Amino acid sequence: MKNKLFLISFSLLLLIGLLSATFNKSNGNAIFTFVNDAPNLPETPYEYSDITFPTHTFTFNDTIEVGYQSHTDTTVLDFVDDDISTLGRVLFYDEKLSAMENMSCATCHKQELSFADDAQFSQGISSLTTRNSMALNDLSWEGKNGFFWDMEFAALEDMIDIPFKDENEIGAEIDEVVLKMNATDYYPELFTKAFGDSEITEDRIVDALTNFIGSMVTFNSRFDQQADLGFQDFTDAEMAGLELFTFNCATCHSGGFFQEFEGVPHDEVIQIFPFIFNNGLEEVFTDIGAGEWLGEGYEGLYKITSLRNIELTAPYMHDGSLETLDDVIDFYSDDVKSNEWTDFMIPPGGFNFTDTEKANLKAFLLTLTDESFKTNVIWSDPFSPIDNVTEFETIDVTLAPNPMASYTKISVDNPQQEHVSLVITDQMGRQVFTDKFTGTSYEFNNYALPAGIYNVLLSTSKGKNTMQLIIQ
Ligand code: HEC
Ligand code: HEC
Repeated sequence: MKNKLFLISFSLLLLIGLLSATFNKSNGNAIFTFVNDAPNLPETPYEYSDITFPTHTFTFNDTIEVGYQSHTDTTVLDFVDDDISTLGRVLFYDEKLSAMENMSCATCHKQELSFADDAQFSQGISSLTTRNSMALNDLSWEGKNGFFWDMEFAALEDMIDIPFKDENEIGAEIDEVVLKMNATDYYPELFTKAFGDSEITEDRIVDALTNFIGSMVTFNSRFDQQADLGFQDFTDAEMAGLELFTFNCATCHSGGFFQEFEGVPHDEVIQIFPFIFNNGLEEVFTDIGAGEWLGEGYEGLYKITSLRNIELTAPYMHDGSLETLDDVIDFYSDDVKSNEWTDFMIPPGGFNFTDTEKANLKAFLLTLTDESFKTNVIWSDPFSPIDNVTEFETIDVTLAPNPMASYTKISVDNPQQEHVSLVITDQMGRQVFTDKFTGTSYEFNNYALPAGIYNVLLSTSKGKNTMQLIIQ
């Protein structure tokens, strides 16, 4: 916001400057602002492809193919490419691509919420979405059999286009988007790194987003850590919750969840339930779910979503009608509206859990949270304000304009006393000023350049920082 205000007022100044033709005369007033209109990316891409499945998920992989394009080795997600995912990350967060330049996938899919939204319905370009925004974790393996609440789309790559073009979501006209992307100074380079040349096509955009989303897995959860150790450090409550879950919930919520559980082999469960069901949320369906595309007999069926990271994705269900996990557990316990689908899986009215059972079930569900997922830099916003980015990427810079003197003091967090390079480019991208220094501060002479707007790049081997400089 601050940046935008700055920009508006400086555009005005610029205009006035041009009109009065005093533009190229600097009066020594230099203003630096941080810019965030180019993504802040690491020199070498993050290792998106470094995904190895925890051992406890291996056993059932002989029967269930992992990953939407995985090959013979089903223990890794081998379709994910680091450079293509990096491009996907930028696309996922880039508001410039949307019709009004104010929306990105991240508007409704927020990292700290496992890429869900905390609103019951999300604000789209012109209206609210009709269903609750879905989490995007573990889609390339666990929830890979169908997408959207009604599972209409069978492949991740088939559906990426939908939000991208949806008038209420990104609302992108592909030709316009390609034009805009070509005009940036980062997309041609990112496409070249990802695909070998700078051509921007719809297929490549989809591929990049699919790679990025496909890399989102939650294998650092307490559940995963403990599963490989036979749950030895689970508390009594978590262990009791695991048992309750296995017998009451995993019948449906089992997609890639457990290797097996006693009495019900995993692959059998998967065959019986194609991940789509009804859990008795409503007596009369206001939204007929899969009935909309599969027709009669499928009304009220919804995707059985993954419960990984479920703690982070409230509110719950396709209509976002249950606010908390406690509400969900109370619902399954006491408030199930039985119908033809639920009858044989959920007892009439609900499971009738005791308070202790409810608490245990919740304790178990909380073990499915991967805390590191919320802040993992590889999935974070590359456009985020500079101070939110990790130190490896961005060096801290403080600016102290001195109204009494003709210089601005630039202080750089540079504990190792490395060389810092300072490069200033004009609006046309031409270098107009370069310098190097060692240490933590630099005095920039406000008269060094004519009045105008410039981009400033400060870099060390540890990272970089970009700013805008306006000289009036
Ligand atoms: C205005 C909010 C909004 C925006 C913007 C948005 N989405 Fe979504 N997303 C949703 C909603 C709502 C759903 C559930 C749709 C349904 O079931 O009808 C969803 C579902 C999904 C799913 C399916 C997840 C699953 O488990 O089946 C994926 C994948 C997805 N979105 C990716 C994206 C991508 C990629 C972008 C950007 C190109 C994007 N979304 C932009 C709201 C949004
Ligand atoms: C009969 C199959 C079935 C059983 C059994 C079942 N669920 Fe579900 N669950 C579903 C379906 C289908 C949905 C999505 C329903 C909707 O959105 O309308 C769902 C949704 C959920 C959600 C919300 C997911 C989200 O992303 O918003 C949670 C949490 C959940 N179930 C937990 C449980 C727990 C805990 C149990 C055991 C007490 C359980 N479920 C038993 C089928 C089932």
